[in-house]
Parts: sequence; structure tokens; C-alpha cells
Amino acid sequence: MAAKIPLASISTARQVPKWSELREVVQFRKPDLDRTARRLHNALTIADLRKAATRTTPRSVFDYVDGAAEEEITAARNVAAFRRVVFRPDSLHSVADPDTSVEVLGKRLPVPVIFGPTGYTRMMHHHGEAAVARVAEHVGVPYALSTVGSTSIEDVRAAAPGADLWFQVYYTTDEKLNEMLLSRAEEQGYTTLVLTVDTAVSGMRLRDVVNGLTIPPTLTAKTVLNMSRFPGWWVHKLTTAGIGFASLDEVEGNPTPGAVASMLFDPALDFTSVDWLRRRWTGPILVKGVTTPASAREVMERGADGVVVSNHGGRQLDRTPATLDVLPAIRAAVGQQATVLLDSGVRHGLDVVAARALGADAVMIARAYLYGLMAGGQDGVARAFEILDGEYRRGMQLLGVRRSEDLADRHVGLGPPALDPTA
Ligand SMILES: Cc1cc2nc3c(=O)[nH]c(=O)nc-3n(C[C@H](O)[C@H](O)[C@H](O)COP(=O)(O)O)c2cc1C
Repeated sequence: MAAKIPLASISTARQVPKWSELREVVQFRKPDLDRTARRLHNALTIADLRKAATRTTPRSVFDYVDGAAEEEITAARNVAAFRRVVFRPDSLHSVADPDTSVEVLGKRLPVPVIFGPTGYTRMMHHHGEAAVARVAEHVGVPYALSTVGSTSIEDVRAAAPGADLWFQVYYTTDEKLNEMLLSRAEEQGYTTLVLTVDTAVSGMRLRDVVNGLTIPPTLTAKTVLNMSRFPGWWVHKLTTAGIGFASLDEVEGNPTPGAVASMLFDPALDFTSVDWLRRRWTGPILVKGVTTPASAREVMERGADGVVVSNHGGRQLDRTPATLDVLPAIRAAVGQQATVLLDSGVRHGLDVVAARALGADAVMIARAYLYGLMAGGQDGVARAFEILDGEYRRGMQLLGVRRSEDLADRHVGLGPPALDPTA
């Protein structure tokens, strides 16, 4: 149908195409021949790294990382809470050259992001814990090695001699075991202890049960069938040292992984574990797995230097609140002097902005870097950090905040919390 508004047609002036102009608009990039480099380059977000990881890693291993306890309600809630954040930008403040650094336990970090503890990391990719430690050393943030790491306390130190290494401990009834781990961490110059307290028993991760995941992975008919889809992962698995609890090799009787887990997860654990650690360890102690103001206050009274507001990424008790929802009340309970870190559900630099604004000194990441590790080993961990760093910096600038220290709750609105955080 002809247009009702009578307009004269536009006449277009044309010219002979000029090569010099064409060259300016068409950019021929040298093709990236390395598949891993191409995969990482194409990943613009942590969600992209997660998707890439599904193509590089056997399903049961991916699910071990990605999955959570029971119905995975808490895991979903953690991520959803960050998406309820409403930013209130404060434009017309110069944000040229922003200062993204923060101080945590007396040290300057370039951004408020710390590599958190994850067990059996060499199962995700043969580069394992050493890769995480090396990236942490390179970018200048701490890395907390897990007690159930698949690389020993000594080997992680050897991989990253200049890194600020922290050690995550489970307090067990076996005093010899506690003492053995702490003295090795001390000898290797680990600065900070992270005591995990949300593991009275192991959470029920149904994906692992369905997948028949064993640690270390074993060759069943199903896994042999699966090998053809992930030959790279299997070649590395079979041609590198076996995956086990590398720091627990001195435990008498060479117990099975199941027996080790039941030694480490102590249902009798109570607040006196903090008293013991405080007497034994002269450096900073953070208690990880705190989700109520009352327990945060109590561990501080018993001599901890701070808390990690964490629900273990939803891998332990399901249906607990999102950590972002309980963060402001916990900060209020422990005061400004205490160190307050947050983990569980951090997948974007804007999540880090929100956590800082609502009271965290820094966040710990876990799945976010494990997706990168699965997608591309050490370079994948570096890519995950680079993505979060860029998003955090851009977020601060667009909010009109020049220094990390200036992020405040006035920059963030938050929908109603899922549960009463003061309970
Ligand atoms: C595969 C995997 C292994 C983990 N192993 C440990 C561990 O050994 N010790 C510990 O304190 N926390 C462990 N965690 C929990 C993380 O340190 C962290 O609290 C949690 O994953 C944060 O949630 P996010 O992954 O959603 O960021 C593990 C998490 C994952 C995903």
C-alpha cells in the first residue's frame, strides 16, 4: 500500500568503491588456531565459560561442580538474590582512573575478589589447584587451598612461591590430624586460616548420586562410553598423577576417600573449635559458613578476625537464605572492624559491586573460576578473573563511584529478603 504522507523519493548519490575506505571498515583478524584460546576469547561472561565447560568436561564432573544439595533451592536463591539488585547511579562524578582496590586483613587487593577453596580441583582439569594459585599470584589476590585439595600444601606453594596463600581447614576430633595440617600450612607460609563450619555432615548432592560420581573417578562401562566424547579430559586424567587428597597422604592406614570425609566432617563440631584454633594459630582466622548475626558475633567474641558469609554455594543445607540477603545484618552485628567476606552465587562483576555496597570487604569465588578451569585450564581461570575484573570496574564507573571504598548501600536497592535475616 502506498504511503499516505506524500514525500518525494530520496535520491542516493553513488561513487566508485574505494579500496582505502573498505580497508578501514573491514578488519581481518588473524584466525586463532588454538581451540582453547578461541574458546576462552569467545567467552564474554562467566555464563559463557560455564557453557564452554559443558563441551570440555565429562557430565558427571561438570555436575559435581554445578550441582548443589537436595532440590538446589539455595543455589538458585543465591544467584537470584544478586538479580534482585537495583543500582542507583550517581552520575556526574569523575570516574576517570577508578581505584578498584580494597584492603583485606591489612593487605591491598587490586579488586575485591578472592579465590575460594574447592576440593579435588585436578578432577575438573589436570592443571588443578596449581593453576588457581598461579593466577592468584599473578593478579595479586589470595587463594584459599582446601584441606581436600588434590594438590598438596607444599606443591601449591611450590607452584606459586609469591602468592598470598590461605588454608581452609575442617576441625576434626583427630587432634594429630589438625596439628599435622596446621604445622605444614605454617611451614609453607600460608597466612590465613579459613575454618569451614557448615559441614556437620556431607550435603546430599543428588546429581552426583544419579551420575554415580566417585572420587577419584573410576572406569565403569558408562564412563568408558563417555570417554569418546571427552577424549582430551580422559587422556590428561590417565596420563597425570592419580587424583586424591594430596594433603592427607600422611594419615595413618591410607583410608578410603569416604573414610577421610567422615573424619573431616565432624557432627560434634561446636564453637570451642574456634577457641582451639585461636590458641594454636597466630595469623588471621576467618570462619566460613556463617549465615546468622548471632553466630557471627559469637565467633568474633571467641577471637576470629572475621567471617565468610557462605552457605557453601547451596551444597550443604538446602532452603537456607541467599547470602546477599543476610549480609547487611551480619555486617551490622560484627561492626566495621571485622573482616566480612561473602560467597555463594557470585557470577558477575556487578555481583561483586552489590556485595561491596551491602557490607562485604570482598567476595570469594568458587564455581565462577571452576567453570573457567574446566573450559581452559590455567588460562580459563585467568579469563574468569579478567571477566569479573572488567565487569566490576565498569560497574563502579557507571555507578559514578571512583573508589571501591566509596561503594555504599545508597547505591543499591534490594527486594525483600527471602527469610528474616535476624532470626
Ligand atoms: C566443586 C566444589 C568443591 C568445594 N570444596 C570445598 C571445600 O573443600 N572446602 C570448603 O570450605 N568449601 C568448598 N566448596 C564451597 C566453596 O568454597 C564456596 O563456599 C561455594 O562454592 C560458593 O558458591 P559459588 O560456587 O556459587 O560461588 C566447594 C565448592 C565447589 C563448587
